[in-house]
Amino acid sequence: MLSVRLKAIADCVPEGTIVADIGTDHAFLPVELIASGKIERAYACDIGTGPLEHARATVAEAGLQAQISLILTPGLEKVPQDAQVAVIAGMGWMTAKEILENDFERLGQFQRILVQVNREVASLRRWIMDHGFEIVAEKLVHDRHYYQIVGFRKASQPVVYTEAQLQYGPFLLARREPVFIEYYHYRKAKLERIARQIEDPDKRSEILRQIEDMNAVILNR
Ligand SMILES: C[S@@+](CC[C@H](N)C(=O)[O-])C[C@H]1O[C@@H](n2cnc3c(N)ncnc32)[C@H](O)[C@@H]1O
Repeated sequence: MLSVRLKAIADCVPEGTIVADIGTDHAFLPVELIASGKIERAYACDIGTGPLEHARATVAEAGLQAQISLILTPGLEKVPQDAQVAVIAGMGWMTAKEILENDFERLGQFQRILVQVNREVASLRRWIMDHGFEIVAEKLVHDRHYYQIVGFRKASQPVVYTEAQLQYGPFLLARREPVFIEYYHYRKAKLERIARQIEDPDKRSEILRQIEDMNAVILNR
């Protein structure tokens, strides 16, 4: 069974597109997308031979060798030009950023780029705005952890997000779904615990500022 996180990423993939899953590891995402009938072709890509062997096994077990090509590549480097959606999931923001920037000139050709990083989602959103892209899809889901998925594409004209939209996500903030409110109650409790333990006064006031911001923008509204 696909995890809640990967299922949420699959939900953000437009139907009938050719998907390149960068850092595919076990290729669970491309196999799900094809087995469910949502898409017909995918590239399962990874920088490591070990992960690509895992991918090979999953694809063979599903009998999908004709529809999923396995590609050993750092980031997007060897991804064929017909890929329409790029997925970069389950890694740190620094790795995802390196993947985006190493093939920056190609990014505009994707109909959608989906990124799920474990932390620093606000940095991802700021990067999107600063590099001439626009956010077109967002999801926040709770599995064992909370995960945010951000979908974006080249903007036809510059898009400016407010600090609150960068911090919390323009779509997530507008929708204010129960899981979103629940997440910020969880974040607030966690930050309050850290603030009680931390000794450095500057770090403590930064954490208190973050809590105040969450209260003002989300929790006390
Ligand atoms: C934790 S797994 C995530 C697997 C899957 N994407 C997911 O979300 O469950 C990260 C994978 O990214 C691969 N990876 C790391 N850096 C990469 C890069 N620059 N290019 C391609 N793959 C990379 C690793 O080899 C590993 O298989």
